[in-house]
Amino acid sequence: MLVLVTGGAGFIGSQVVTALTAAGHGVRILDALLPAAHRTAPPVPEGMEWRQADVRDRAAVEEALRDVDAVCHQAAMVGLGKDFADAPDYVGCNDLGTAVLLAGMARAGVRRLVLAGSMVVYGEGRYECARHGIVRPGPRRGAELDAGRFEPPCPRCGEPLAPGLVDEDAPADPRNVYAATKLAQEHLAAAWARAVGGHAVSLRYHNVYGPGMPRDTPYSGVASLFRSALARGEAPRVFEDGGQRRDFVHVTDVAAANVLALSGAGEVSEGCLRAYNVGSGEPHTVGELAAALARACGGHAPVTTGEYRLGDVRHITASSRRLRDDLGWKPEVRFVDGVAEFASAALRG
Ligand code: UD1
Repeated sequence: MLVLVTGGAGFIGSQVVTALTAAGHGVRILDALLPAAHRTAPPVPEGMEWRQADVRDRAAVEEALRDVDAVCHQAAMVGLGKDFADAPDYVGCNDLGTAVLLAGMARAGVRRLVLAGSMVVYGEGRYECARHGIVRPGPRRGAELDAGRFEPPCPRCGEPLAPGLVDEDAPADPRNVYAATKLAQEHLAAAWARAVGGHAVSLRYHNVYGPGMPRDTPYSGVASLFRSALARGEAPRVFEDGGQRRDFVHVTDVAAANVLALSGAGEVSEGCLRAYNVGSGEPHTVGELAAALARACGGHAPVTTGEYRLGDVRHITASSRRLRDDLGWKPEVRFVDGVAEFASAALRG
């Protein structure tokens, strides 16, 4: 199979390229090398077909799609960005880019798509109230966060909630611009699948970490920010009270999920999009991540600052059972091992 990997020079895309190649597939890369993600141009993988272009460039997309059997769409602007002024760039890269790509696929007769989705589409995760069962807390308010009340209370009785695992049928509730663009990508892909009889999969990634993670940009994930601080001889700065929970999934496990989804996309009925959560199944708090990285680096103990980012969710952890049941995926990298390897890259500089 010849697969076009958009964003194939990026953190996740490059690992997808490696995994696809190892599985015997042909790969063509389309990547704009956005400066936010690439401070220096990455080396072009040897023997790889490669185009430097933006997914919004119709002509480049049309040319890149020639003879392709499937598309793995990783190109995106990620993270929360600097402020709301980033909104047009997010919508342009993520949604207009996806629309141009899908229109090109429709014209070229390419009927298979795997999309890099995100857990952010769920908003706050799943919570249970002792009295009211499963509830959906609204966005956390600045005044509550200023007062150090980070846990969202039950929207009906105000009592504390127990966080749980979100599954793919949970309603979408995007809470920031990035989340809105990731959800719109799924809707566009579903519309494309219906219109052309295509097969679409959205892999809703949890917090991906591992080698090649972008460093020191407003778009870097927390694991990368902590590691950079440790490498500078500083303490990792943990926001809120450090108790916010995430699922840190290793980039090679995410790449393996992409290969399975591309090969097994036949499982998805024609004309449909099927979503899968991709998480390690081993949730940790951000405080635990900071402590584990600091230990592994032998660096400064983390400081918990009480700062917060408006629009952040408190806890988001998912069940990846559907991915396991449908496609036989299971994560191979345990948190303790992945974090140790990730930290050692900081020590090497
Ligand atoms: C991350 C991804 C997003 C993905 C989502 C899926 C990044 C930049 N974002 O969002 O693309 O769709 O997971 O679940 O990779 N924090 C600190 N100190 C810091 C920075 C952040 O404590 O210096 C905290 C934040 O307040 C937050 C947590 O770390 O509670 C995670 O932040 P971040 O890595 O930006 O990821 P998400 O917002 O979860």
